[in-house]
Amino acid sequence: MAVLQWTTDYFQDKGVSEPRASAEVLLAHVLNLSRLDLYLRYDQPLTPDELARFKALVLRRRAGEPTAYLTGRKEFWSLDFLVSPAVLIPRPETETLIASVLEVFSLKTEDSRPRTGMPWGLEIGVGSGAIVITLARELPQTRWVGVDISGPALAVARENARRHGVEARINFLRADLLAALKPEPRFALLVANLPYVPRPVFEELHKDIKEYEPREALLGGEDGLDLIRPLIRAASGILHPGGWLALEVADGQAAKVAALLKETGEYEEIEKIRDYLGIERVIRARKRD
Ligand SMILES: C[S@@+](CC[C@H](N)C(=O)[O-])C[C@H]1O[C@@H](n2cnc3c(N)ncnc32)[C@H](O)[C@@H]1O
Repeated sequence: MAVLQWTTDYFQDKGVSEPRASAEVLLAHVLNLSRLDLYLRYDQPLTPDELARFKALVLRRRAGEPTAYLTGRKEFWSLDFLVSPAVLIPRPETETLIASVLEVFSLKTEDSRPRTGMPWGLEIGVGSGAIVITLARELPQTRWVGVDISGPALAVARENARRHGVEARINFLRADLLAALKPEPRFALLVANLPYVPRPVFEELHKDIKEYEPREALLGGEDGLDLIRPLIRAASGILHPGGWLALEVADGQAAKVAALLKETGEYEEIEKIRDYLGIERVIRARKRD
């Protein structure tokens, strides 16, 4: 399709990141097609209305607005999630967190099951809900609490949970970290992808991220650990013995976070798990029995 090539060249010329993918996603969105279908109907001309809508999106993308906010959706773990500027756009490296939880939890659910009923999981910082919803779907025998400090983010997460048919198994709660939860060992699993970008790195982020994605979803203070540190201090109080903790971290933070967990004396099997780029991305640990 000529318009696709033209747009790719235009984005490239203007320094837009991922020029081809951006052009394909935006055109597919306007035509209500999949990216693959674009190539199957490549010679069909755009109507004036389609062209006008496409041009408007191209200009916004050129200014830096992320493709996922322009289309209002992002794929994660092969599921379609609604996103808005109130939430972080789910990242492919976060799939490492999902895989690392499934690796231990689906096999060892028996170990960490409370005496009665389904095991409970907890996610702190749900954003779009990508993590908690994916895990609720993958682990149908679990119930969840999903916490975020942002009301608008929780509204997006609730809608995604409804669309993916897991709303009955997730209680969403607006709170600061674990402040609203009783310090009782109720949870078999605690996962979090908290804001972890150190301030100096945040200042240098590409403008597509820094100017468009929520700052409260990214910035983790001077060294990036302002939220992870208090979460680790409080986590063992809500995990039951044998329960699992999995935290996503930034490149270069894994050793520090593993050391923080070790210092508590509460965990064993503390492991660093690499993402598809080879970066140590997830710290997983098990609370001692
Ligand atoms: C990096 S985003 C992760 C979003 C989503 N879980 C994901 O992986 O795509 C971090 C989330 O933590 C939330 N958050 C920030 N500070 C928080 C706090 N003190 N308590 C609870 N949630 C917080 C933000 O609103 C944001 O939605």
